Amino acid sequence: MDYLWWKHGVIYQIYPRSFQDSNGDGIGDLDGIIERLDYLNNGTNHSLGIDGIWMSPTFPSPMKDFGYDVADYEDVHPDFGTLATMDRLIDEAHKRSIRIILDFVPNHTSSDHPWFRESRSSVDSPKRDWYVWRDAKDDGTAPNNWIAVFGGPAWEWDQKTQQYYLHSFLVEQPDLNWRNPQVERAMHNVLRFWMERGVDGFRIDVMDRILKDPALRDNPPNPDRSWGRLMGVTGLQQHTQDQNWPDIVDAVRRIRSTVDEFPDRMTVGEVFGTPENIVRYYGGETSDGLHLAFNFSLTRLVGERWNAANVRKRVDAFESALPGAAWPNIVLGNHDIDRFISRVNHDGRGAARGRAAAVLLLTLRGTPFIYMGEEIGMPNTDVPEHRLQDPARFHHRNRDPERTPLQWTAKGGFSNSEPWLPYGDLSINVAAQEKDERSMLTLYRKLIWTRRASKALTLGDYAAIDGLPADVFAFTRAHGDERTLTMINFANDGVAFDLPKALRAGETLVSTHGEPNAGGRIELAAHEGRLVRLM
Ligand code: NOJ
Ligand code: CA
Repeated sequence: MDYLWWKHGVIYQIYPRSFQDSNGDGIGDLDGIIERLDYLNNGTNHSLGIDGIWMSPTFPSPMKDFGYDVADYEDVHPDFGTLATMDRLIDEAHKRSIRIILDFVPNHTSSDHPWFRESRSSVDSPKRDWYVWRDAKDDGTAPNNWIAVFGGPAWEWDQKTQQYYLHSFLVEQPDLNWRNPQVERAMHNVLRFWMERGVDGFRIDVMDRILKDPALRDNPPNPDRSWGRLMGVTGLQQHTQDQNWPDIVDAVRRIRSTVDEFPDRMTVGEVFGTPENIVRYYGGETSDGLHLAFNFSLTRLVGERWNAANVRKRVDAFESALPGAAWPNIVLGNHDIDRFISRVNHDGRGAARGRAAAVLLLTLRGTPFIYMGEEIGMPNTDVPEHRLQDPARFHHRNRDPERTPLQWTAKGGFSNSEPWLPYGDLSINVAAQEKDERSMLTLYRKLIWTRRASKALTLGDYAAIDGLPADVFAFTRAHGDERTLTMINFANDGVAFDLPKALRAGETLVSTHGEPNAGGRIELAAHEGRLVRLM
């Protein structure tokens, strides 16, 4: 009864180019996704058991940023299919109680979008003001010092009309001007277009940049260089003027009210910053903003920083920043960041950490987002120089290693021809893991189906436990009489301890390490994650 799909369910991210190719051109497509829906949820625990799919963009696009450069918001790129294929996918997904979340890209279009072609045709174009155009400074330089996320200045000079236009990402991704009400109206109509076709929600790209300082003042330099490695060139500045501008939250509220024209839909926004900043996008105490704003804080814990104290600190910080009715979410990976296992593989133990992290992801309070391939423990794939595709040098790196095809069988199974990006180590594949009781896939399935059956895990309160060994992060989830306890050992060695008096461990529901000891003193193996029922 109190089940809300986007709140209590599990969301799985598909990178459509790499999920399943149905027609042998080496590129994943919508028909391929339809073929594989039963893998995601066939109603039994022989499938993953997810509740919703977020698909990265499948709209017509010159693919400079692999679909995040949209040339038409209301159609499907022929590589992926047609509108009719999308309708069929929505229908087939709904038959399996799987919701569809599309990727809405409001901050910028492709430079091939008819709106931009019109806008750049002349300074008098009726669509001139749909993008952010400015004169050069007196000395001919760009209007301000903003830098593009993918490197270089955020301004491009247009020879023909003698002005600069703003692009927060690639030159081929001009920023829309959301201060123009016509732009806002057109983009809201895009949301309606897809909701009328049955789409259940939107992941909103670059939510935190759609409005900037209207005076376009310079960003101050960033004295803190520790961000440099993660953020690439954007770490050189503090993004006080071009990111998280205060009135974005008002624009978000208006998006919410359009989404609320249709029942049971959701939004999840891509935003960056401190927990306090991120929760603003939920709309504060009134909760009339985004349904969810991504919490990327755990993805920042790279290498040795992935430890019990840091993970707990980050979970607690988000929990305590959230206003009353707002709901958390947990993200360990996506198509822009290193695979989880590779991020924490500094001493070769990434795979073991990956298993324990799955227990964390699926038992913490909040909506879990699984990036495709994580459920079989795919690490980054080494993509040889001559096969690299991603034009962006994001975070000082290329994003191809986490975008390679999902490995279905020992031969690949993604396509019957050469995939657009190479496979990784094919000993890691779905078919092998389906048969293996101890595989990562089996662990994910157990966790998800255990979660589905538990009100404590889906709806329950969260409380961290104090006084345990420093390498152990443990927390309870409670709903009514039902209480569970999750214990994660982050150490390279086993650990033994007694639980606080008030907690008595009962049946083990899931463990990364088979069937462990019951009752009394707790013993956890190195990198064990264990979920137990409390008596
Ligand atoms: C964030 C997306 O996740 C990323 O893939 C894309 O390149 C940028 N936004 C720009 O749209
Ligand atoms: Ca294809």
